[in-house]
Amino acid sequence: MNFELTVLPLAEISANVEVIIVVDSKLKHHFVQDKKLLKKAGFACGQDETCLLVEKNRLYVGASSLKSADIRRAAANAIKALKGTKYKSIKVATYTNNGCTYTLRAMVEGFILGSYSFETYKSKKNESKIKHITLSLEEYNGLSIDIEKASLLVHKAQITADATNFTRDIVNTTPDDCYPDVMASIAEGMAEDVGLTCHILKPKQLRKEKMETLLAVARASRHKPRVIHLTHKPKNAKLKVTLVGKGLTYDSGGLSLKPADYMVTMKSDKSGGSAVLGIMKAVAELDLPIEVHGFVGAVENMIGGDAYKPDDVLVAKNGKTIEIRNTDAEGRLVLADVLCYAQQEVKADYLFDFATLTGASVVAVGHYTSSIMGNNKELQGLVVKEAHDAGEFATALDFNNYLKKTIKSEIADVCNISNTRYGGAITAGQFLSEFVDKKHADKWAHIDIAGPAFVEHAWGENPHGASGAGVRMMVKLIENLANENNHKKEK
Ligand code: BES
Ligand code: ZN
Ligand code: ZN
Repeated sequence: MNFELTVLPLAEISANVEVIIVVDSKLKHHFVQDKKLLKKAGFACGQDETCLLVEKNRLYVGASSLKSADIRRAAANAIKALKGTKYKSIKVATYTNNGCTYTLRAMVEGFILGSYSFETYKSKKNESKIKHITLSLEEYNGLSIDIEKASLLVHKAQITADATNFTRDIVNTTPDDCYPDVMASIAEGMAEDVGLTCHILKPKQLRKEKMETLLAVARASRHKPRVIHLTHKPKNAKLKVTLVGKGLTYDSGGLSLKPADYMVTMKSDKSGGSAVLGIMKAVAELDLPIEVHGFVGAVENMIGGDAYKPDDVLVAKNGKTIEIRNTDAEGRLVLADVLCYAQQEVKADYLFDFATLTGASVVAVGHYTSSIMGNNKELQGLVVKEAHDAGEFATALDFNNYLKKTIKSEIADVCNISNTRYGGAITAGQFLSEFVDKKHADKWAHIDIAGPAFVEHAWGENPHGASGAGVRMMVKLIENLANENNHKKEK
């Protein structure tokens, strides 16, 4: 799908179909030419409503407001509504919110995210036929937008949304087609394309690095584990950001086997790692002036004679001993070692980890929202804010000393599950905090994406399947760190 920006008014642009986003519920705007027809069709401009007037080649889409989140969703709905048609090109005006041009970025993201469909395993493909979108800078509110500023926004939107779709593709791929070695190859291929360096650790190096908990989780699988390390290192970067992702290419639960119903969709347990790959792709393509490292622990959690067991005690890379009481709490074990490795390799200013870590996060905050944890409330707040600005839902969950006591072990330094059935997202986060060193303690935030990573019933700009959760929030956050840093330099 390609985008073209023009200062020509809509009337002078030729395209198969015009998309008109209507925010005003009374249809009173001067640009709504088909008031009578729309009334007849019962179109009331509500969010998620669409009305295609085929004979006029006009598609009307409702939105609750001009806020980015609503416009993104409206653009996604427009593309979905056109899916069955033969239209190949669209023209659309730009909508600014009181002069704020972020709606343009949101609209372009909405078109790209909404057109996504995963059809690898379908014999008959039904992909969106829309190939070309012309954006007219004719603005309904009478404001004029600078074409250079607009084209930069379109460029950023394309990179961010394409990276999100890249992450979605990895997550949607089945466990037998995307196992750790495949994930490592995907990372290598992507790194080559966008100019990142990529280093892959295989079992021999993992043993050398004493990543014994990760190796234990991986042991019963015929697919050997990998740790991926991607680096974006621009000249004169003032800040370093480290990203760590849980890449469980399948989570059967291990010997503490998941019940049948809970095992379905566990190909999505690689969502955190896949998000890290998507973020790294975007960071490289945007060429952000920040050093960014992405680490992924790619592992499959299976059963077998060789499997790690409840009752085992494992030694993590930082020397801490872990009593295993449930092999389904494997993500935190993999992350423990990868967090230690990442901190050993890079002394970062910010450390973020992404993981579909707990069902408890979904219970706590629902299917749409990521839980943001850590020792630093300000940093949690920053992640929540950037997530919202980027069109993702996120909320902070607070650690506390009482819950911390529930992961104490009688026989080891820490236990891999809590002794209470409540607060499981937080106790998992507090388990991870045991593997964050003193220097990084206040620089770290843990992002549990178990809720939004995989969508069973389509919502907003997300079709069924992987959503790419984490990508947009983190690209926005790193982008803003880069901007702030530039301002500081200017002062
Ligand atoms: N990958 C799961 C968490 C998960 C559940 C992600 C649902 C997405 C949707 C994780 O490895 C897991 O199994 N966690 C257990 C932890 C428990 C044994 C303490 C859980 O959440 O039940
Ligand atoms: Zn598990
Ligand atoms: Zn898991």
